[in-house]
Amino acid sequence: MNTTIDTARLTQELETLSTFSDVPAPAVTRIVFSELDLRARAWLKQLYSDAGLEVREDAIGNTFARWRGSDAKLPAVGTGSHTDAIPHSGRYDGTVGVLGGLEAIRALQRSGFTPRRSIELLMFTSEEPTRFGIGCLGSRLLSGSLDPATAAAFHDPEGKSLDEVRAAAGFQGSLESVALKPGYYSAFVELHIEQGPLLERRQVPIGIVTAIAAPASLNIIIEGQGGHAGGVTMPDRHDAFLAAAEIALALEAAARSTGAIDSVATTGECEVFPGGVNSIPSRVRLSADIRDIDLQRRDGMLASLERACREVSARRGVVTKIRTINRDAPATCDPTIVETVAAACEKHGLAFDKMVSRAYHDSSFISQICPTCMVFIPCRAGVSHRPEEYSDPEAISRGTLVLAEALAQLAR
Ligand code: GLV
Ligand code: MN
Ligand code: MN
Repeated sequence: MNTTIDTARLTQELETLSTFSDVPAPAVTRIVFSELDLRARAWLKQLYSDAGLEVREDAIGNTFARWRGSDAKLPAVGTGSHTDAIPHSGRYDGTVGVLGGLEAIRALQRSGFTPRRSIELLMFTSEEPTRFGIGCLGSRLLSGSLDPATAAAFHDPEGKSLDEVRAAAGFQGSLESVALKPGYYSAFVELHIEQGPLLERRQVPIGIVTAIAAPASLNIIIEGQGGHAGGVTMPDRHDAFLAAAEIALALEAAARSTGAIDSVATTGECEVFPGGVNSIPSRVRLSADIRDIDLQRRDGMLASLERACREVSARRGVVTKIRTINRDAPATCDPTIVETVAAACEKHGLAFDKMVSRAYHDSSFISQICPTCMVFIPCRAGVSHRPEEYSDPEAISRGTLVLAEALAQLAR
């Protein structure tokens, strides 16, 4: 079997996909179910059909493109990732796993390979939390780890419900129908950029992911007392923003003090109400994103955050409420698939490192329903979630080749 990747075509397709964006290049913003997301989906579905794949979509817009195997009754082998992009991000996060997955399938088709199991490309809806506040919406529902009724109650920042938004995007049917039947996939492999600097630094072309860090995200609402920026003297103030600032710094301190490089915490959103230059903030919403590969350490940071909220609230006379959005466990990749991917690297003389993923991925949830693994490729300086995100065509091509070999092995 001679598997060759059409690097030029894949590069061109990544370039085209990046043009479905709400902001000018090189930045990419593609929010789930926005007009540009829907146009990108239509373009992608055409590519899937052109490759002879059978396309179907579920009620949340997860899109499946299946290359039917000779023994189509067997559980399929899955691959894929996401194509939504957070505001002002880059063109490679997620998209490499979708278009690379498609090219891996086309490469196997060109090589004359006949899969015994079907090979299915899966584009997950809303891996990014931008619109509905929770990451991995599609894969959580597919794996049955998110209650459909809870999901239906999600609202976007404009107050539109998930049901309203997905219906307007053309996705109907009950969210209960999204969960995959047990044994749907025999294996799943996701190709992704590393989003960290290690592979590039070590000049290693492939990372094989053995575990994915445990993410938690929360909303913290701080209610203080508003008032006139001139009239209210400093001793009388209960400024919600200043309390929020202390809480954010306490969270940073909690992450820095674990002594582990894998402990990370981010306050990425801060909404100040009413938001006037001469108005004392009466209410603030902060988001907190807290992760660690070690669950106990991650939960330790959550406990520190709760303590800080209590302490700051008492001292500043404000009221703080914490609302947990998600609190997930770490995911473990399947050792057998890890070895399958390692063998694919060896076959092509590609060095690899086994590594953990500090970013989360749809694979975090798919790993709950089938043996799963991820293939990482280097990205320049480890930059991601920024317009400067870059992975060179040869790096993407190598990852796609390893993915193709692994899929072929798993589908035999
Ligand atoms: C995925 O985008 C993540 O935040 O890890
Ligand atoms: Mn991302
Ligand atoms: Mn991603």
